[in-house]
Amino acid sequence: MNWIIGITIGVIVGYLLDREIYFYEGAHLGPRAQAWLYDRWSRKYDAGKRESQLRDDEMLARPLLDTLKDTPEPFILDFATGTGRLSFALLNQADFTGRIIALDLSQGMLEQASEKLSRAERRDDDSPSRRRSASVELIRHLALPLPFPDSTFNVVCALEVLELFPSMDEPLKELTRVLRPGGILLTTRGTEESGRRAKVKSKPVFTSLLEANGLREIQITPWWKLFDRVLARKNGESSPVVGAKNLSEVLRCGVCGQVEWGRARAEPGRSEASALTCRSCGKSLSVTTTGIVLN
Ligand SMILES: C[S@@+](CC[C@H](N)C(=O)[O-])C[C@H]1O[C@@H](n2cnc3c(N)ncnc32)[C@H](O)[C@@H]1O
Ligand SMILES: [Zn+2]
Repeated sequence: MNWIIGITIGVIVGYLLDREIYFYEGAHLGPRAQAWLYDRWSRKYDAGKRESQLRDDEMLARPLLDTLKDTPEPFILDFATGTGRLSFALLNQADFTGRIIALDLSQGMLEQASEKLSRAERRDDDSPSRRRSASVELIRHLALPLPFPDSTFNVVCALEVLELFPSMDEPLKELTRVLRPGGILLTTRGTEESGRRAKVKSKPVFTSLLEANGLREIQITPWWKLFDRVLARKNGESSPVVGAKNLSEVLRCGVCGQVEWGRARAEPGRSEASALTCRSCGKSLSVTTTGIVLN
């Protein structure tokens, strides 16, 4: 009898763990557990997502740049950048002249992004104006809220990530807060075909959710098996010109809330390359040798 109870408990625990880790990707375990899981998955992530990344130029970079024709130097937040697929696709476009802040909670995923983006940079040696170091900055940031002031970016992207939150309202509120009025949200909707029904919002429900969060002109386009691509515009209008900004010009200090950073070389013997130090309260953020700011 005892062995039946033992096996039943084992099956139930196994099912719950499988559901939490592979279905919810650690969403209920907190950001540190999620970061740990993604750090473990990071090296194999791109190999598993090849199908989704095949058409990134055609499905992500080109349509986005087409909507940005009147924005001379778009300032872009790639929230949950993962291995940097969007930045990579944008850097591959000859007419991309903007700047990207690529944020993720997993340092492992950001390390993969850094490596991939340096390949784009090497290919682009003869065009220093589009060098990765000048166009993309990487930041690890563990949990919402986002560390940026309201209405900061011309574009906010959040690809294949909304489903990881217990409620999609939470990320959508934050993403639209940091988007400028009239700015573009590029995101995804999990499809009915994905077989993950608990996370799927039908097209009408997804559209209403975006509208309730202050977005309009919502276009849902079939993309690949698991996700549709979604483009929307934030209500209101503002000048499309923001001008290129550095991360240190928009990053709010987590202690005092000020946006005032100085950069210093790290002390000798430390593994980091440098540090950002808040001029107002002295809080210091390490910057890794691969250029990731650890917030
Ligand atoms: C399925 S991957 C998608 C990555 C990338 N956007 C893409 O399309 O390839 C989800 C990513 O979201 C990140 N993530 C999950 N929750 C996050 C949060 N609260 N803040 C930042 N990143 C988060 C994970 O670390 C992971 O890199
Ligand atoms: Zn501070």
